[in-house]
Amino acid sequence: MTRKRILSGIQPSGTLHLGNYFGAIKQHIELQEEGEGLYFIADYHAMTSIQDGKEINRLSFDVAADYLALGLDPKKATLFRQTQVPQVTELSWVLGCVTGKGLLDRATSYKDKVDRGLSASVGLYTYPVLMAADILIYRSHVVPVGADQTQHLEMARDMAQKFNSTYKTDLFPIPEPRFNKFAKVPGTRKDPDGGFQKMSKSYGNAIEIFLEGKALKERVMGIQTDSTPVADPKNPETCIVYQLYKLFATDAEVREMGERYRKGGFGYGDAKKALLAKIETSLAAMRGRRKQLAQDRDTVLGVLEEGAAKARRLAGETMEQVRRLSAYGA
Ligand code: ADP
Ligand code: TRP
Repeated sequence: MTRKRILSGIQPSGTLHLGNYFGAIKQHIELQEEGEGLYFIADYHAMTSIQDGKEINRLSFDVAADYLALGLDPKKATLFRQTQVPQVTELSWVLGCVTGKGLLDRATSYKDKVDRGLSASVGLYTYPVLMAADILIYRSHVVPVGADQTQHLEMARDMAQKFNSTYKTDLFPIPEPRFNKFAKVPGTRKDPDGGFQKMSKSYGNAIEIFLEGKALKERVMGIQTDSTPVADPKNPETCIVYQLYKLFATDAEVREMGERYRKGGFGYGDAKKALLAKIETSLAAMRGRRKQLAQDRDTVLGVLEEGAAKARRLAGETMEQVRRLSAYGA
């Protein structure tokens, strides 16, 4: 049996945080053992929010170095930048021609992003078509994504089916989503209604993966908690510190901390110190690798070049068939 092709992309639109790591990247790296992993930096997509090429270039490098530091093995998985595979924009056009405008009119993420202040560009509107092209051009089987991408993936499945039925082919497998285990890593502050808020670079509630020293300490000690006195019992399940601790600690450590909360005499400051220590030790080796990679730009750029060469080869093969079917009728 041929190996499953697993594909995902991440936008270089900010510095990666713990939500990105536990919600997405960690799973991408684990999946490199299970199938043929293709992971790319969605720099074309990032142009919907950033129009400074230098900035996109800097963030793209950082995302690549982060992936490598966090354990992506270029011998097992392919890492590349979307802009290095121009065929993807070509497929995007062809898919656009078999996609009803109504499908895009129903996209919730377009409306959400415009509400948050992004420019209502044609690029933002057709974002889901480019995302479908990303997935289909490599004839991917599995797409690990966060719950926020469910509708985009449904659209990619629709477009695959529509292309296949229009041109009477089975060129595109229908891609399956694989949802991340940690659907919602909470940010450092609660919602006004007291619920957890998703950690996101756009909400100013993030802890960056490789933050360290004083800055990390300040961020962790600044996590919002309630005003229950130290001596009183506390509910761990409603506490952000405990939720973040769960990401790093073993089951036994999590149980032990839960008991301390419930017993009383354990303050939020103590919990924060325990969380800080966990973040520091768990990410220490990766932090070291990340620093080395920052000094060794050629290694990172070399991985991206090699990844792009492979991605272009795969994309070129698919586009040849797409053109043959859609424009030459052969
Ligand atoms: P942000 O919300 O910071 O802009 P993105 O939307 O660029 O993050 O997310 C990139 C990936 O990380 C997506 O797969 C998304 O589902 C995942 N992700 C982002 N934030 C979280 C979070 N707080 N919890 C779980 N997954 C997350
Ligand atoms: N839209 C995704 C996000 O914001 C990024 C992305 C672009 C993607 N193309 C993709 C994810 C293809 C999976 C597959 O997180």
